[in-house]
Amino acid sequence: MELTYREMLAADYDESHALWLKTEGMVLSEADARKEIEAYLARNPGCSFVCEDSAGQVAGTILGGHDGRRGFIYHVAVSPDQRGKGIGGQLVKLSLDKLREAGIQKCHLFVLENNEIGNRFWARSGWMKRSGIAIFSADT
Ligand SMILES: CC(C)(COP(=O)(O)OP(=O)(O)OC[C@H]1O[C@@H](n2cnc3c(N)ncnc32)[C@H](O)[C@@H]1OP(=O)(O)O)[C@@H](O)C(=O)NCCC(=O)NCCS
Repeated sequence: MELTYREMLAADYDESHALWLKTEGMVLSEADARKEIEAYLARNPGCSFVCEDSAGQVAGTILGGHDGRRGFIYHVAVSPDQRGKGIGGQLVKLSLDKLREAGIQKCHLFVLENNEIGNRFWARSGWMKRSGIAIFSADT
């Protein structure tokens, strides 16, 4: 089946959100509402991608962006029936290429400790698991 990779657009929200909802290991919050994702895409143009199958259905997503210093990747998800075909890896490559073009030299991501599939994927893809770092969060 032919796969197409392209920049994620605001119009992809409904299908992407539906995929995230059914993706194990993915935590959604108010930051994933339509308005917030549209703002994210507008702030980080060209760094987020979807993979479409030949029927035009979203088979995979990645949100990529940076703060001018480091890159961050979120919501790497591939539809269960499309996994193991290189889609996740290609989405990560596309996003990292764009971040590199923007002068960003390192990218971070969050993955739940108990997300075995996700942890194996990142380790297999050459990402370094950091230890000795805690994440602190606060409402603004
Ligand atoms: C993780 C996920 C995105 C992988 O997508 P995918 O399209 O199946 O991955 P790919 O086919 O591109 O695989 C890329 C590499 O990771 C490896 N890999 C993928 N899934 C793996 C798994 N479950 N266990 C071990 N290795 C895995 C592949 O073997 C491949 O390695 P290779 O290039 O050396 O052969 C997909 O399983 C998914 O959506 N999981 C749920 C959401 C999630 O955990 N996201 C990531 C955490 S934020």
